[in-house]
Amino acid sequence: MSNYHLQNFADYLESYKKSIDSPEEFWADIATNHFIWQKKWDQVLNWDFKKPEINWFIGAKLNITENCIDRHLAENGKKTAILFEPNDPSESSQSITYEELAIRVNQVAKVLRAKGIEKGDRVCIYLPMIPELAISVLACARIGAIHSVVFAGFSAMALASRINDSSCKMVITSDGSFRGTKIVDLKGIVDEALTHTPSVQSVLVVKRTGSEIGWVAKRDFWLHTLIETASASCLPAIMDAEDPLFILYTSGSTGQPKGMVHTTAGYMVYTAYTFKNVFQYQGNDIFWCTADIGWITGHSYGVYGPLLNGATTVMFEGIPSHPDYSRFWQIIDKHKVTQFYTAPTAIRALAKEDLSYVLPYHLKSLKVLGTVGEPINDEAWYWYNDHIGKGNCPIVDTWWQTETGGILISPLPGITETIPTYATLPLPGVQPVLMNEQGEEIKEIQADGRLCLKFPWPSIARTIWGNHERYRETYFSTFNNLYFTGDGALRDQNGNYRITGRVDDIIIVSGHNLGTAPIEDAVNEHPLVAESAIVGFPHAVKGFALYGFITLKDENANQEALFNEINQFITNQIGAIAKLDKMQFTSGLPKTRSGKIMRRILLKIACNELDSLGDITTLLNPEVVEEIIQNRLT
Ligand code: WT7
Repeated sequence: MSNYHLQNFADYLESYKKSIDSPEEFWADIATNHFIWQKKWDQVLNWDFKKPEINWFIGAKLNITENCIDRHLAENGKKTAILFEPNDPSESSQSITYEELAIRVNQVAKVLRAKGIEKGDRVCIYLPMIPELAISVLACARIGAIHSVVFAGFSAMALASRINDSSCKMVITSDGSFRGTKIVDLKGIVDEALTHTPSVQSVLVVKRTGSEIGWVAKRDFWLHTLIETASASCLPAIMDAEDPLFILYTSGSTGQPKGMVHTTAGYMVYTAYTFKNVFQYQGNDIFWCTADIGWITGHSYGVYGPLLNGATTVMFEGIPSHPDYSRFWQIIDKHKVTQFYTAPTAIRALAKEDLSYVLPYHLKSLKVLGTVGEPINDEAWYWYNDHIGKGNCPIVDTWWQTETGGILISPLPGITETIPTYATLPLPGVQPVLMNEQGEEIKEIQADGRLCLKFPWPSIARTIWGNHERYRETYFSTFNNLYFTGDGALRDQNGNYRITGRVDDIIIVSGHNLGTAPIEDAVNEHPLVAESAIVGFPHAVKGFALYGFITLKDENANQEALFNEINQFITNQIGAIAKLDKMQFTSGLPKTRSGKIMRRILLKIACNELDSLGDITTLLNPEVVEEIIQNRLT
């Protein structure tokens, strides 16, 4: 049997067993037979979760773009690699073949080199979902520069802090972005961010909207002008297996976002393998992942996973509601999409609209549906299954994280069982365990605990950029010798996992991972705010939305004006995605005697779970709890 493609349940069982009994042999077999290497590894794996230190394919040399592009040219050069669907449905879509992709990536790679970018340098990419985004990512990888894609919905301040954290030398952006009926001034945001970023030497600007933009001579360059004279060939940099491929920022419970570092060979092997199997990709499929490349889902299953398999990947610039709520379904029919991968929040938002947006579309090309980013509720699962999959498409509820690089727990469509709201079974190489609050592994099969992993898989993030100690502390210090995910999970009698949600101070709002601390910091910046605490409450479309409990320096302040002003502070510091849905202004926040805010109580109040508040008598100020309950927003 081929270890690479799991075709039936026996394959899954056999591969799973092999991956546990002899993980090095298992992954070496896949790595040997499905990728091209400049030099093979000397050792497959070396790891120690205590340090922590994880190395895969030690000593191997490669370039991931040779695997994503060059090796497909001989047989599949004319095949579409990227199928671009613009925001405006009347603008024609674009097919970029593997041959064209090779040329465009090489040209941009040459431009980067000409602008002084060398192996190991960091390049920040702040672009809309246009082909140049994927091309820029690959161009960085071509020359060994480390890409750091920042989602183009983040504010200037959030962009600046990410640029500074990894001292990026260059920013690649565009004159603007089309989003529904809006044009976002991306270049203006970059210009503002760059007033605080000493490391940036040059800015490459993609022309997309034709908007009027600011220009800084000797720093800003039109990409299309530089490309005119760039050579169409660029030898790939020879990278070490463990050289960083990219940095991607994710929210932390406290402080600065964490720059998760993914390295080359392990990430390549794992994303390719999981793409193939989780989506049961076949040669002529048209795969569409709706996630922005600014998130890990877009990196792994919008770009790298599909291209590593020589697939056609759809890239959509717009939003699901423009020009109306049928846009996704229209695109699926137009391009005959076979696998469609999106987030529960998008499904809920579309399910809320009239079915007449769905009914005119055949959706017959679809074979597999996927979801990712947060737990999917029963209702959304059935709507997706019944109305989009028409009962014929297995739904893969894929659980993973920015930190894991690739999908860890998921059904295999047509091969393993799907169960609504369950991510079900671990993929080969993945060893989940559930831990109790005392730090012990729960051995019973049926259990409820904190989800950890006890063995490294090839695409686990290797560190946090510039802060290895924070990496250790965040993921490896809660439980002895285990990677802690931050999620809670249930396991049924058959070993299927159901992810129940975050057990830390991270809240997933519309599939976006947000830390409460940075939002509280933004709220506290408002001159009238004394203190704040933010919790999540269930929301029909967003999954969770944010509820802020805020004390003011002046109790007579105009609360309606404050609501807007505080949200503007958040928008400026982080981005509109972190705005609060509810703000309750209160005379105090419940605190322990040592002065810590009791978020647990506020969470219960926000979720309207007043019966289970627990003992509040030991608080410093139990009386404020009564006040907060009285005035709570429902
Ligand atoms: C967190 C990671 C991985 C790509 C997108 C999010 C939650 C993710 C699922 C799922 C339940 C899920 C977890 C996880 N999550 N997928 N299928 N079921 N929860 O990446 O922003 O790093 O967020 O998203 O809580 O820890 P991320």
